Amino acid sequence: MSLISQSAADEAHTQPQISIVGAGAIGQLIYQQLSSANHSNAVSINFISRTETSQQQSLTFTNLAQQQTTQMAEFVGRNDWSHKLLKTQLLIVCVKAYQVIAALKPIIKLLSPNCHILLLHNGMGPHLDVSQMLNGQGLSLGTTSQGALKQSPWHTAQTGQGVTQLGAFSGALMNETVKRTLLSCIPQSQWYEDIMPMLWQKLAINVAINPLTAIHNCRNGELAAEQYRNIITAAVTELVQVAAAESIVLDLEGLLTRVYQVIELTASNYSSMHQDVQHQRKTEIEAINGFIVLMASRHTIRAEINQQLFASITALEQGYSSNA
Ligand SMILES: NC(=O)c1ccc[n+]([C@@H]2O[C@H](COP(=O)([O-])OP(=O)(O)OC[C@H]3O[C@@H](n4cnc5c(N)ncnc54)[C@H](OP(=O)(O)O)[C@@H]3O)[C@@H](O)[C@H]2O)c1
Repeated sequence: MSLISQSAADEAHTQPQISIVGAGAIGQLIYQQLSSANHSNAVSINFISRTETSQQQSLTFTNLAQQQTTQMAEFVGRNDWSHKLLKTQLLIVCVKAYQVIAALKPIIKLLSPNCHILLLHNGMGPHLDVSQMLNGQGLSLGTTSQGALKQSPWHTAQTGQGVTQLGAFSGALMNETVKRTLLSCIPQSQWYEDIMPMLWQKLAINVAINPLTAIHNCRNGELAAEQYRNIITAAVTELVQVAAAESIVLDLEGLLTRVYQVIELTASNYSSMHQDVQHQRKTEIEAINGFIVLMASRHTIRAEINQQLFASITALEQGYSSNA
């Protein structure tokens, strides 16, 4: 082998191969962050597409300073899944919680057992089913508080900064080079030895804020009103009880303080569930209050308030899906 082809082979060997499932707001944001830190071609990234054939797609990104950049991204079509997925070292799943299983089902059997999967959605629950679907792959979980909005299918704008918390859930650990790449590319990202308490803490904020803003058609800040205090306290109290049954110890007072901080810090925002209901889209309620209800039933704990919030949002969804 010539010197040039040897060094190319070495680079191909060491260059982390990352695939993203879900070219939505968060998928395009993560793609942008991984590729813009990719000056020396340190990462090879593509999207796994549902189309039959592969294509190059021009993606536009607007950053927080309103600067626009455009770059070509590789979308791997079904015809090329088998050879591309076999090389993937990290598969980042950026679809909505209710899309995770359907997105992974056709893909997982084509992944190498050495591939690692990272779920990056709001809420909890899909990880339980995904961990049953693995063929030797390791699984990590994460949550991000960054904000992104799709302006059009191929134009995404970042709308907010925020922390991204990541950590191992089951099976083989993420390759150290891949992990370092991920943490160096995603701003304010952190690896946790035990990610579960972080996910439960994030869930507490979603459990309290998301359904109430959607039901009462209000901005986050309005939940500071006295009329919501009892229901917020009850929903978070139930979450703490269910988490305890899962051996996750959470501090109720600390969580409530955090919920009210988020209400204040995001006072003028509309929550994602509020927007989903207003636009008559399916919500992530099943992975938020629905997850509390599910886990409560497994531990025969009462979670009446989460059940009520879950039922109210489900009824709203049924109302507009039956009109469609
Ligand atoms: N956007 C934010 O600011 C933000 C912030 C924090 C957390 N999150 C969370 O991040 C997750 C993703 O949110 P998002 O805002 O990025 O949602 P999104 O814009 O709807 O993105 C999801 C993308 O996944 C695609 N998809 C669905 N099923 C697929 C499949 N089987 N194969 C390939 N692609 C598939 C969807 O395509 P179709 O539309 O064609 O189905 C869509 O483009 C959610 O859990 C959300 O709550 C979002």
